Parts: sequence; structure tokens; C-alpha cells
Amino acid sequence: MERTKQRPVLHFTPKQHWLNDPNGLVYFEGEYHLFYQHHPHSSIWGPMHWGHAVSKDLITWEELDIALYPDEHGTVFSGSAVVDWNNTSGFFPDKTGMVAVYTSHLEPAATSPAVQRQSLAYSHDNGRTWSKYEGNPVLSHAEKADFRDPKVFWSEEHGKWVMVLATDQTITFYSSLNLREWSLESEFGEGAGSHEAVWECPDLFQLPVEGTGASKWVLLVSIGDNSGLNYGSRTQYFVGEFDGSVFTPEHEDIRWLDYGRDNYAGVSFSDIPAADRRRIYIGWMNNWRYANQIPSRGWRGTMTIPRELTLYEAEGRTLVRQQPVAELDRYFAAESAALPELLLEPGKRRRIDSGNTAALKLELKLEQSDADEFGLILHHTADEYTELVYTAAEGTLTLRRDHSGETGFAEMFSAPQCTEGIGSLRSLTILADACSVEVFANDGEASITSLVFPAEVCSGLTFYAEGGNVRLRCNQSFIR
Ligand code: FRU
Repeated sequence: MERTKQRPVLHFTPKQHWLNDPNGLVYFEGEYHLFYQHHPHSSIWGPMHWGHAVSKDLITWEELDIALYPDEHGTVFSGSAVVDWNNTSGFFPDKTGMVAVYTSHLEPAATSPAVQRQSLAYSHDNGRTWSKYEGNPVLSHAEKADFRDPKVFWSEEHGKWVMVLATDQTITFYSSLNLREWSLESEFGEGAGSHEAVWECPDLFQLPVEGTGASKWVLLVSIGDNSGLNYGSRTQYFVGEFDGSVFTPEHEDIRWLDYGRDNYAGVSFSDIPAADRRRIYIGWMNNWRYANQIPSRGWRGTMTIPRELTLYEAEGRTLVRQQPVAELDRYFAAESAALPELLLEPGKRRRIDSGNTAALKLELKLEQSDADEFGLILHHTADEYTELVYTAAEGTLTLRRDHSGETGFAEMFSAPQCTEGIGSLRSLTILADACSVEVFANDGEASITSLVFPAEVCSGLTFYAEGGNVRLRCNQSFIR
């Protein structure tokens, strides 16, 4: 059987048809909920519903019935879900439950633009069934046609719900005491960050800065596809302060969450128990430039591996680190082995066969290097491969997927994906599944998230060094 016909073993895909953004990520009573933009009748984007899956460990997902259907207010665009612990909404007189806050979208007509307004739905049975609030929509705008993707969280510090909303090319903050009535707090974004295209799917959360005892706020902002540029859709982030009303960034430079093309519209989980403390993120592993053209296998679209986000300091900047959640390790426990230390010398390629594998995790530590270039080739089949090249002079890591299998569906798909300024390469974690390669450099200081469509996941590896030597250790883990 061709593996391309198989599903990823570690990444969520819908049983059938189209998937885009993760929505309503929330933890409640022992389950992680993943809702998602879903077209249940086609493998191309269309009238949006919220699909639904649950997991006990963030890796194995069980798809459930569709959670939210279009109604008289429109189709169901992206949004978030929260647990209303104190019944602020009044929806839960008996037992605590979840509230979904989403965008009701009406398509533009010949004489009128699109209408996007925020709506509520609530569930008394752990997300299995939902009631729409009869007072919908709860938030609209007189002029803005792009007015969507509410991310809501309870701010303990400020004693209110905060909504972060994408409003054309800005983010607008609202607040509420009951989730039903919202007040405008402030608008952020003019003159800040990248304005290549429409802003979408924001998220705002506080993270501790490693090793400092301080905390800072992170604002994620996804940016749609600008067809004049060679990136498609991607996600930027800001680090700064939020006082419950106003977000103030601490930097002027533009920061990208990922250097690959396939990590979009990502948001983080709500209501992770306090004892856990992690900020867990999932992105849509795709790009609007070619999302409707990627090879479809009856289903189309997959999520990134869930990642833990943290903040670290480097050269006076506070930056986001992302690493696969620790839950992943258990899946690789059965077959995991360290290779003997490898010494790479110029002109000598080291090939290691791995046998066919359904998923692969590689952990590399570069112990010493004076090479100008270090490369790793992930052989999918005899003639399909994905290549990762580190160039010491520029301090860049480049992923090339032009020979990775099916690539012809979009021109941009074959372009190299390159990090900026990661300095010296110390470590790499690489996760390969049926249609993806996710690379985490220097313990997640930079990541390259990439779809690939090979016939096999991995049949072997080649390592090489140019202009000097590299000494490295590599741990290989497989799921067969
Ligand atoms: C982002 C997005 C959102 C919107 C949804 C529609 O990928 O464009 O802004 O709510 O997808 O499916």
C-alpha cells in the first residue's frame, strides 16, 4: 500500500472532507477538545461548520459529531471556547459547562459586503451537543466587513472576560462580565507588525520568561495570503504588556512564529489546569496559497503537532520557543535508539537506512562543528527526499522540499523555507509523519513546519558536512 494513501499517525485529520483552522481549543473534565473549521460535504473550503474531536493526551483524537451548524446568522467561522466556571453567562444553573464564541458569517451579496458578527453557543454535555444563544449575535460592527475570530479568556487579574478580535488589519480588545454584553477596550496594530494582508485568528496570553521570574504577554496574529509575495499565509507575534484594556508591544521588529509555510491560524488551549501550567498551541498545518489544491485523500487538511509555547531571552529580545508536547514521547518509546556518535568529514556522506516507518522522530545534538555547511537528507523513497541545510556564515537553516514527492499543485510549494539568524546550530528535533516534516531548531527557538507528500515517510537518512567537521549525536525513534 502506498503510504501517501495513509493518514498521519500523530496528527489530527478529519475522517472526510475539508478542515482548516483549529477552533475552541479547551480542556474540560479530562478531555482536550479540538473544534475546527470544517466543510462536511466537500474537500474544498465552503460553508463552515465546527467539526469536533476529543483527546485524552493531545495526540490520539476521536472525531465526534459536528458541533456547530450554520444558522440564520450565517456560517460558523473561527472562534474559541471557554469553561464558564462561575456561571457568569447564566447558561449553567446546575452544572458547569462550556461556551463557544464564534463568528457568524454571511457571504457578501451583489450589493452588500460580507457580514461578520460574534455569536455564542453553550453545551451542558461536554461539547457533545450545543444550544445557540437566542440573543445572537452578541457583537457586530457598523462598517468593518472583516470582523472575526474571537479568542476569549477570563482574566483573573482584571476580573473580566477579554475578547481579542481580528478587525481588518488591527486587533480590537473587548471585555465582558457575562459573555453576552461586550464593551470596547482598545484597538491595536496601526503601524505595528506586518500588514501584508488581512489579520486573522488572534490569541493573547501571558507566559513566564524562562529564568527571570517575570511574565510577558504574547499576541499571536495570523496574516492572510498576499498573492504578490512568496509566503502565502503566515503568523506573526508581538511580545509586550496587557493591562486588561490596552496591549503595548515592547519591540518594533516583525517576528514570525514559524519559518515554514504550513503553520497558520494557530491558537492556544483555554482552561489547562493550573497544576499543568503549560500554554499548548495547535496550528492548521497548511497555507491558504495552496490549501485547496494539496493532494486530497478523501480528507484534506491536518493540524500541527500540539506544541508547548514558552518565552526565552536572546540578545536583549524576548522570543517565543515552541516544542512538541511531552505526550508525544510515549508514542515513540517502543523503538528508540541512539546512534553511535557520528563524525562527519567533508566529502564523506554518511547514509543510514531506517527501514520503512509510519512516523519518525530524530533528535540531533551537534557536539562540535567547524563546518561551513551541515546537511541532513530525509530519504522518503529512492528518489523522493526532503533536505535540511544549515549554513554557518549566515546562521540559517533551510528546508528544501522540491523533491519531496507530489509538489506540482502549486508553484510556491517548491520554494525553499529558511530561518533567519538562529546563530549557531546546537540541536534539531525533526518529526516526520505521512504528510509533514516539522523541524524544531535549538530546542524550539526556531521552527520550520512543512507539508510534504511523499510515497513513504522515511527509508533512511544521509548526513554530510562541508568546509569542516561536525561531531553529532542522533537519537532515532520510530513508529512502524
Ligand atoms: C483563517 C480564516 C479565519 C476565518 C476562517 C474561515 O484561516 O480565514 O479568519 O474565520 O478561516 O474558514
